[in-house]
Amino acid sequence: MDKYNLKNGSELIIRNATLEDAKELIELLNKGGGQTDFLPFGKDEYSLSVKELQNMLERFSKRDNLLYIVAEINSKIIGMLNFRSNNSKKTKHVGELGIMIDKESWGLSIGTHLINYLIVWAKANGITKINLRVREDNARGIRLYKKMGFVEEGILTKENFSNGKYYSCVFMGLDLEKK
Ligand SMILES: CC(C)(COP(=O)(O)OP(=O)(O)OC[C@H]1O[C@@H](n2cnc3c(N)ncnc32)[C@H](O)[C@@H]1OP(=O)(O)O)[C@@H](O)C(=O)NCCC(=O)NCCS
Repeated sequence: MDKYNLKNGSELIIRNATLEDAKELIELLNKGGGQTDFLPFGKDEYSLSVKELQNMLERFSKRDNLLYIVAEINSKIIGMLNFRSNNSKKTKHVGELGIMIDKESWGLSIGTHLINYLIVWAKANGITKINLRVREDNARGIRLYKKMGFVEEGILTKENFSNGKYYSCVFMGLDLEKK
């Protein structure tokens, strides 16, 4: 668990997600789906049930190349980050991150703190590469990732369809052996 003072005076706590967080996390993700067009689901479209998310969190807690953390202010979860990898010897050094913060708390450097936390954890756990995919028009996300050292590695076209328009996704990566 880490604590940070935010520029609005609040105290931010970043900690591992527990099984008890599942319901609150689903509420946050369902809310987030309606706040931004940059998640793969819309308002109230998050697909996992509480039980399914608890099973996932349990699996994450048992493996040293999976991470699920929450950002908390005043005992309320306002953001999450996860990092998914698999068990294969050939690919367990690399994985993909997902991040989402309640819109009311954007711009407070919470994304920066969550990704910093991931980088420290990753280096301590044998991860040498972090990947992500971001919609081409997600300027805030791309700004954050570039600031953290991620570089663009490729473009996948027609990855997202929203309001009658296709969007590409930018693949970005952070090589921890170079950082
Ligand atoms: C993307 C997201 C995680 C960023 O979180 P955050 O806590 O606002 O991020 P930070 O405050 O740490 O950093 C954001 C950076 O973007 C900059 N920024 C803000 N608005 C911007 C804009 N319209 N265009 C470009 N950059 C912008 C900020 O100035 C800041 O950079 P700085 O630290 O150099 O000043 C958050 O906005 C979010 O959850 N969005 C919805 C879900 C999403 O997009 N998830 C990622 C999918 S890949």
